[in-house]
Amino acid sequence: MVDFEIIVGSVLGASEYVAEALEEKLNEHELTAQVHLSPDLIDITPKATWIICTSTHGAGDLPDNIHKFAKQIEEADLTGTSFMVVGLGDSSYDTFCYGALQIEQKLKISGARMIAPALNIDVLNQPIPEHAAVQWLGTWLSSRG
Ligand SMILES: Cc1cc2nc3c(=O)[nH]c(=O)nc-3n(C[C@H](O)[C@H](O)[C@H](O)COP(=O)(O)O)c2cc1C
Repeated sequence: MVDFEIIVGSVLGASEYVAEALEEKLNEHELTAQVHLSPDLIDITPKATWIICTSTHGAGDLPDNIHKFAKQIEEADLTGTSFMVVGLGDSSYDTFCYGALQIEQKLKISGARMIAPALNIDVLNQPIPEHAAVQWLGTWLSSRG
């Protein structure tokens, strides 16, 4: 079993880079992670900590590759599952990071527990979103002692 399941929602690939950078950071701390680019609940263990890493497209919509997962979590009992959320978005949209927010709400409704405040990365101000994500994760890992 891995320590972290990194669940990716991406259209253009930026969230995939962020997910890979998070995986590397976890590995540096001797933690194991599995990145899911076509997430399916069947392959994701609830005992690991989940990191959802998703962008927003359309007008506040989730990327197509994470739609199946979003539907599956609506129908699941996720009591006992812990998660964190990293959203990528562009603050020029009034639906800034709505995709990440949708996933957060669905997970909470299904009983999962959010264990860190969400990180919403504004790609307008963060040309290299991985940097913000790795820093955020590093702070969280240090706070665990
Ligand atoms: C057609 C289009 C629609 C977008 N809509 C939104 C949006 O509604 N809200 C938001 O925060 N960002 C929006 N974005 C910005 C993307 O979320 C941002 O570029 C992100 O880095 C893309 O990540 P990805 O490569 O993993 O898909 C949109 C981008 C495009 C190209």
